[in-house]
Amino acid sequence: MGRGLILGIETSCDETAAAVVERGQRTLASVVASQIAIHARYGGVVPELASREHLRAIVPVVRAALDQAQIALGDLDAIAVTSGPGLAGALLVGITYAKALAFANSLPLIAVNHLEGHIHAVLLHERENASEAKAQDDSFASVTGTETPTHQNGEDADCSKASLALVVSGGHTHLYLARPTDGAWRYSLVGRTVDDAAGEAYDKVAKLLGLGYPGGPWIDTLAQFGDPQAVPFAFAQVKTKAHLVGKAPRTKAAQTAPIAPLDPRFLFSFSGIKTAVLRYVELHQMRGEAEARAARLFPGRGVETATPRPPQSKEEALALCPQATLDLIASFQHAVIGDLMKKTFAAAESLDAQRILVTGGVAANRELRARFRKEARRRRLRVSFPTLSLSTDNAAMIAAAAWPRLLAKDFAAAELTANPSLALQ
Ligand code: KG4
Ligand code: ZN
Repeated sequence: MGRGLILGIETSCDETAAAVVERGQRTLASVVASQIAIHARYGGVVPELASREHLRAIVPVVRAALDQAQIALGDLDAIAVTSGPGLAGALLVGITYAKALAFANSLPLIAVNHLEGHIHAVLLHERENASEAKAQDDSFASVTGTETPTHQNGEDADCSKASLALVVSGGHTHLYLARPTDGAWRYSLVGRTVDDAAGEAYDKVAKLLGLGYPGGPWIDTLAQFGDPQAVPFAFAQVKTKAHLVGKAPRTKAAQTAPIAPLDPRFLFSFSGIKTAVLRYVELHQMRGEAEARAARLFPGRGVETATPRPPQSKEEALALCPQATLDLIASFQHAVIGDLMKKTFAAAESLDAQRILVTGGVAANRELRARFRKEARRRRLRVSFPTLSLSTDNAAMIAAAAWPRLLAKDFAAAELTANPSLALQ
């Protein structure tokens, strides 16, 4: 093996991404071409447009990653690609291109589960911190001739104890118990949503309120200016529903694993709060105001316009939404995060996890990070997040997740194809 360089390719949803990561712990390049501007016009991801855009972007994005890393294809040790879960047509673009590149350059191909990628986004961030801290310590020691100070950041970055991972994104709200065994990571599903993913609820509520797409960053910024106690949303305990056993999935989030054998205390449901927001909007005659806002932000959906950005100050927020809407947004977010916290910490305690990893697009949320950190401190548990850019879809996490597989020579078969509902285990 050379330097342990892996090119990661990710095209599972609406970002075309390529990255080069060295030995699963140092990012040499990470390039993400977002399709947000294209899908924002429709208020959600349009699968056919996603595949078309991936086809357009894949070659320049991979080239940009290699350029940024200042390496040639011949320097690589392997190519890693997301094989699922995700949109079938979108996944296929990445897989087909990765296969061709691997074949043409006689490189091994590694298939990575997108969810495992999200979990490795946290581990990659920790390893980068740890090696940065070590580099600083080494230069400190060489200058002063003293003992290396210990750094809390990098301590037990790869601890052998079980971690509880909450993957919370536009397609998933899943809890996994993750533990490293013989260098590879093993996962067991302990909880999940029975209907919508949390990010999906953010996106649907934002759309309902006439805000931009994706909804998460809009609600994240606007919630700061509202009263989180104004509207008392409540989550009922999800019961294991006998009628769901063996049934076809009802939403995209429900596609990856069966619900039946899971502890009902760790099941999520986000479709109810979306309906509750809708009812509140109707009851308080907020519909017209939301439609007027959407028309202002997106003059004619389906038409190409600049993508508007969420407001940054209270003045800008109030120019966009009345206080009552800001209060509704803050209350929605407060309730969703409260529910994510309650079940995640309960699962960590019940399964005796030593720490919690929170990852996926929704893990970029400011209130979520602050409240998880506070609760973890109270319980003397450790909680880790990826950097903001590693929270949402990227290819560095795919290349990082592939590293233990390269060491184990766990390569993809020649007939590798997209698996839109690939489960993580
Ligand atoms: O991980 P990701 O980029 O793609 C999927 O695998 O789904 O996650 C995208 C999701 C979207 O639903 C988006 O609204 C949400 O993550 N999101 C956020 C924030 N940033 C992105 N949700 C809440 N707060 C944020 N700051
Ligand atoms: Zn994702």
